[in-house]
Amino acid sequence: MNTPDKPTEHKVIPIAVAPGAAPPASPTVGMIRTLGLVSAICGLIIVGAYQGTYDAVAANKRIATERAVFKVIPAAKSIAEYVALPGGGIEPRVGAGDTASAPGAVKFFAAYDADGKLAGIAAEGGAKGYADTVRIMFGYSPDCQCVVGIGVVAMRETPGIGDKIITDKDFLANFTALDVKLKGDLSALANEVRAVKHGAKTSAWQIDAIAGATITSRAVGKAINDSAQALLPRLVPNIDKLGSKS
Ligand SMILES: Cc1cc2nc3c(=O)[nH]c(=O)nc-3n(C[C@H](O)[C@H](O)[C@H](O)COP(=O)(O)O)c2cc1C
Repeated sequence: MNTPDKPTEHKVIPIAVAPGAAPPASPTVGMIRTLGLVSAICGLIIVGAYQGTYDAVAANKRIATERAVFKVIPAAKSIAEYVALPGGGIEPRVGAGDTASAPGAVKFFAAYDADGKLAGIAAEGGAKGYADTVRIMFGYSPDCQCVVGIGVVAMRETPGIGDKIITDKDFLANFTALDVKLKGDLSALANEVRAVKHGAKTSAWQIDAIAGATITSRAVGKAINDSAQALLPRLVPNIDKLGSKS
């Protein structure tokens, strides 16, 4: 039983340090050493995982992009990648490190039908939606100078609200012939592509937004507008260069 008035005695254990010997390492030094080792191992694992999966991720991204091209140009049987140059003009992409990475360059795909005839153009665009950037692929027909289809490349919009842009038939009907023709001097779109409130569409270059998902609808409109504004003034004067493919 404890007796409250009798204090507990602590034994003092003397540590013998030989004269001239180094004092024992403090626990702080040991902790820093362990922390450093753990951080280095974690760093190596992260870099290894990134490098080990880089090629697979790039290949998957490429497959998803190409699928989106075939979706927005249904007649496409083969595709070729091009770049619209910052100073005007277009040229085929030759691979990593080519002009496509130059500031202001715009990548696009030329899609060819079973006879090797140009079936349409596909290009990506992106704009801020409700949660994050909405990245879309749109198909362009040089014949009607209009957008003929869209597909989503990446988005994190709310399921059941923003993601209606891929399921809502009325919304998708906006993209059967969305007007993106150029001004007479081919310097810019004749009319800005823009999503308007549901039920307020009056012109062929407007997008009738989804009620309750106007923000995501607007992101789609801005993505198409910005990409088409950058691409079409360079592409349209050079469309004959895309020729046909055997
Ligand atoms: C939890 C939550 C998630 C939402 N997600 C989206 C979305 O993904 N896309 C969108 O456009 N609006 C989203 N909204 C709705 C917007 O806040 C806003 O009401 C709507 O976009 C405006 O469109 P309206 O004028 O047609 O109602 C969300 C709202 C809430 C509360």
